Amino acid sequence: MAAERIELAPGYDVSRITKGNWQLAERHGDAVEKDQAIDDMRRFVEAGFTNFDCADHYVGVEELIGAFRKRHPDLARLLTVQTKVVPDRDLLPVLKYADIAFLVDRALARLGVERLDLVQFHWWDYDVPGYVEAMGWLSDMQAKGKIWQVGTTNFDCPRLEEIIASGVTVASNQLQYSVLDRRPEHGMADLAEKHGMALQCYGVIAGGFLSERWLGAAEPEPPLANRSLVKYRLIIDEFGSWSLFQDMLRTLAAIGAKHGVSLSAVATRYVLDKPQVATAIVGARTAAHLADLVAVASLDLDDADKAAIATVVAKASGPEGDCYSLERVPGGRHSSIMWTNQNTKGVGAR
Ligand SMILES: NC(=O)c1ccc[n+]([C@@H]2O[C@H](COP(=O)([O-])OP(=O)(O)OC[C@H]3O[C@@H](n4cnc5c(N)ncnc54)[C@H](OP(=O)(O)O)[C@@H]3O)[C@@H](O)[C@H]2O)c1
Repeated sequence: MAAERIELAPGYDVSRITKGNWQLAERHGDAVEKDQAIDDMRRFVEAGFTNFDCADHYVGVEELIGAFRKRHPDLARLLTVQTKVVPDRDLLPVLKYADIAFLVDRALARLGVERLDLVQFHWWDYDVPGYVEAMGWLSDMQAKGKIWQVGTTNFDCPRLEEIIASGVTVASNQLQYSVLDRRPEHGMADLAEKHGMALQCYGVIAGGFLSERWLGAAEPEPPLANRSLVKYRLIIDEFGSWSLFQDMLRTLAAIGAKHGVSLSAVATRYVLDKPQVATAIVGARTAAHLADLVAVASLDLDDADKAAIATVVAKASGPEGDCYSLERVPGGRHSSIMWTNQNTKGVGAR
């Protein structure tokens, strides 16, 4: 079955399964070999997964996608690349138009394109004013032809309402959504429906925790193997306990066995079937799990499957609140694992 596609914004068509590329960033986990990573990108595009997600602070990743585009110009024509503009936290109080223009121009150069397909804007600290103005600057660059679509990542409902009220058209908000983290159901999905905005979802398989690899496994002790596992280990704590998480894995595995797919495929389908969800951004360090992703298109979760997942979800204690609110608690468990100043410092942003 062909890879599913969706018109994310008028005239802007992408694959619903999107290749996440944080896993290729320096210091995410084990280093990846450049030629191998480019060859894996080729396999994703050939399988129909033509939408790639990256960010300007995923060190080395925009350049890697640029190298892929150069090596495979025919496949590059099929590709859409959504990057993120993530100004450093320390820069926010003094952020200027020229800083955002610098980041946009740098992404254009790294990716080797004349126009960015989608820019997703991130803002580390709501106590610092300026995100509405900065979104206006991105809209201005859109009007000048440097950007096709403008979106956000990790914004909550009130701030998105503010941005939309300022006249900016937000194509999508990228956020965490999974069987373990249903915070988008606390208002964001309704807001997205009201404004015709798409949701793009990460954390769909919780950094690999939602896979057979962890079924029946003992609770891991730190250090964990990569940045994703560190992040989603905390989400499992919010969800409830390791034992409730194992209940979820067993439930997903039973559904997967019934349909002849992996439990990761079930977890991915669950998110793709949610209202306003356009894409599931699945992190790919290699092409090892490509067949699993291909299987998602033909998977149809029936009422019994959905009820079984809902039964486990009903026992969860969290995560509570709006999207990314836990991650914004100063000095909190979630915020203290983040690196918020590794993008613009010392690289010439004015
Ligand atoms: N906007 C944001 O703040 C934000 C935050 C996080 C991520 N993201 C985006 O979302 C993407 C996804 O990242 P994520 O952290 O959420 O990770 P994820 O997609 O939940 O998990 C990715 C990891 O799971 C494993 N995996 C993938 N498919 C699998 C399968 N079918 N079966 C078993 N294991 C599988 C792989 O590990 P192995 O390679 O070790 O097998 C892979 O590296 C990122 O690349 C990035 O583009 C955005």
